[in-house]
Amino acid sequence: MLSAAILLLFLTYTTADFAGHGRAPHSESAPSYINHDESSVYDYVIVGGGVAGLVLAARLSEDPKTTVALFEAGPDPQGNADISTPFLAGALQGSQFSWNFTSTPQPTLDGAAPDLAQGHCFGGGSAINVMAYCRGASSVFDEWAEISGIEGLRWDNLVNDFRMSTHLEIPPQDPPYEFVIDKAVYDDGNVSVSQERQLVKFEPFFLESFKDDPTNPAKIVDLTSGKTGIGLQVGGPHAIESSNGTRSYALTAYGFQVAGRPNVHLNHGTWVRKINFKGKTAESVTYVKSADGSEHTVQGKEIIVSAGAINTPKLLMLSGVGPEEHLKELKIPVVQNSPEVGTNLADHHSAVVMVEVPDEIVSSVQLQTNKVLAASVQAEYQANGTGPLSTPGSSSFIAERVPDDVLEGFKKAGINVDFHLNLPKDRAHVLHQYASAPFQPDPQNLNVVSAFVALIQPEATGYMRLNSSDYRVNPLIFSNYFGSEGDMAVFTYAYKRLLSKMRSQPIKQVVLSEVYPGTNTTSDEDIKKAIDNSARSFHHPAGSVSLGKALDSSFRLKGLQGIRVIDSSAVPVLPTCHLQASVYALAEFAAKMLKSEKY
Ligand SMILES: Cc1cc2nc3c(=O)[nH]c(=O)nc-3n(C[C@H](O)[C@H](O)[C@H](O)COP(=O)(O)OP(=O)(O)OC[C@H]3O[C@@H](n4cnc5c(N)ncnc54)[C@H](O)[C@@H]3O)c2cc1C
Ligand SMILES: *[C@@H]1O[C@H](CO)[C@@H](O)[C@H](O)[C@H]1NC(C)=O
Ligand SMILES: *[C@@H]1O[C@H](CO)[C@@H](O)[C@H](O)[C@H]1NC(C)=O
Ligand SMILES: *[C@@H]1O[C@H](CO)[C@@H](O)[C@H](O)[C@H]1NC(C)=O
Ligand SMILES: *[C@@H]1O[C@H](CO)[C@@H](O)[C@H](O)[C@H]1NC(C)=O
Ligand SMILES: *[C@@H]1O[C@H](CO)[C@@H](O)[C@H](O)[C@H]1NC(C)=O
Ligand SMILES: *[C@@H]1O[C@H](CO)[C@@H](O)[C@H](O)[C@H]1NC(C)=O
Repeated sequence: MLSAAILLLFLTYTTADFAGHGRAPHSESAPSYINHDESSVYDYVIVGGGVAGLVLAARLSEDPKTTVALFEAGPDPQGNADISTPFLAGALQGSQFSWNFTSTPQPTLDGAAPDLAQGHCFGGGSAINVMAYCRGASSVFDEWAEISGIEGLRWDNLVNDFRMSTHLEIPPQDPPYEFVIDKAVYDDGNVSVSQERQLVKFEPFFLESFKDDPTNPAKIVDLTSGKTGIGLQVGGPHAIESSNGTRSYALTAYGFQVAGRPNVHLNHGTWVRKINFKGKTAESVTYVKSADGSEHTVQGKEIIVSAGAINTPKLLMLSGVGPEEHLKELKIPVVQNSPEVGTNLADHHSAVVMVEVPDEIVSSVQLQTNKVLAASVQAEYQANGTGPLSTPGSSSFIAERVPDDVLEGFKKAGINVDFHLNLPKDRAHVLHQYASAPFQPDPQNLNVVSAFVALIQPEATGYMRLNSSDYRVNPLIFSNYFGSEGDMAVFTYAYKRLLSKMRSQPIKQVVLSEVYPGTNTTSDEDIKKAIDNSARSFHHPAGSVSLGKALDSSFRLKGLQGIRVIDSSAVPVLPTCHLQASVYALAEFAAKMLKSEKY
């Protein structure tokens, strides 16, 4: 049994390394992982055991004659309660389960350098994310097809891959709130996508203020159905197992099912530092074991890089695939001059309004400071898998399109917003959400909710480069947040809108004080500072080894053989909401493509 004292330890966010000490509140089946055999030549060697890597390992090994070895740099998180308990998600950034990346100081943010943590364990981002499950505007996937030349990526076809990766769970008693969900876009896949049993207590206020907005009222819709990318998504859905309120992620959904298969070897604590080529053909990978620092090389007929949108281009560059000038500067022998590797790096990014709320609204701060409350929510979670701990502390979000007349106004003022005006009409520009945790410093331990608004169709993209030829050194990430005048204008409009919502009815009923930026922030100059000082990644980086640019229409790196990139790096354009659903679907799609090929 997980004791309240242990729970409190989790909640102080200080016990980063907890694996092995505590037990999850419910038992998990434990797959046994088989270590790889160094003399084999595998059909597929997969780098990275995150969302895409685990989907590929599971699907490609369905044929017992196909051999697969997967190498994950991070640990195996199974059984760790910080991972399985949805409310504790915030504690996972900066823990042993994350890559602790930051942007370089950004000129658009007056030199601020936002953090860009990524998942570092089996499950990758899906093990540490906040579990929002969304697909967004269907026109995005049609654009993927156009850019990549892969017709099958159109929404009308890709919806099959979204379906086959998920099943929908609606609580037995219809939840006590209004929501819309289209059951037809779910099937019997292993990612559990569930509606919440109950909204978190801040929710009704947040929801009402956007629903009843006089100028741009939000309609309650299903942002997973493909019908629209604009509207209010209520009560999740989240990638959470409804029956016991635990995280549903790539390890439980895909990793566990391969446990008994002799033709697939999942390795963890194995950091791939280089892909080795013979001429232009990738032949093997060299990895370092975290347990003893020893190096090993494994051969594959095909190498698939699924290390995520930051680590995939990093590994390619370390291996001699990237912009030639850059590689030469670092004295890395050039295998292929691929100027598009590391470019086109897109990310959703946001800024924060943090408010103090009454005790009835449970935040991570209150669970640290109020032991009685912490014990009671833990007892409920333990007994029934319900209550605050079974939620990510946020029930819904609103994806908005900035009205045309506002954009026309910017245009008249000489600001170029053509990109934003011309986006297909089903696309939202910005997304409002909140977390029951402090996103800005909270020295007095006030009970706070952090609302934020994110730019979800940014015009500007950034890029990444190596800082060293040493694989252990973090890369340089030029995230370029709010990097065009149009992005900045659209975002500033949206941030002011969020500020005004947080300062008026109905939200005002549950606001005891505005902790950030503070009600004295009203001038444009101060608002810009508030944006700079709270700018954050939504942790959805993508596009850094994009289809249609660095990759051809078989996910192969142009100019090379025996190597493909299948993960968020390949995503050519960001969806209009959270990214994981699209990466599951993209990997399902790619797995089918690979299985239908003879090589
Ligand atoms: C903090 C956070 C919050 C998020 N919130 C949400 C959310 O609420 N909803 C949502 O939809 N999406 C969310 N996301 C995004 C989503 O999780 C990612 O888009 C998704 O995980 C990307 O999948 P991927 O397969 O491309 O990479 P990842 O899932 O990141 O997997 C890459 C894996 O490769 C491993 N790896 C990297 N380099 C190497 C190497 N050299 N050798 C061996 N292994 C390596 C990594 O450790 C990692 O496990 C969030 C992400 C984060 C980090
Ligand atoms: C939660 O329930 C699912 C589905 O029954 C099960 O597979 C999983 O092991 C449970 N999780 C935990 C942590 O007990
Ligand atoms: C990230 O930081 C945590 C806390 O310092 C550390 O335990 C972890 O190893 C770091 N992650 C990586 C990949 O180095
Ligand atoms: C779900 O997992 C089970 C085993 O855990 C596996 O047999 C089944 O094929 C999986 N289904 C899908 C759709 O991945
Ligand atoms: C669990 O649920 C039951 C039935 O709703 C309820 O009576 C009980 O009080 C709950 N247990 C806890 C610890 O909350
Ligand atoms: C890049 O490397 C240099 C030299 O080792 C170091 O001083 C600098 O801090 C690094 N930059 C980043 C952003 O990590
Ligand atoms: C608002 O008031 C606080 C507290 O006095 C102060 O620290 C902050 O700098 C002020 N902000 C602005 C924009 O004036």
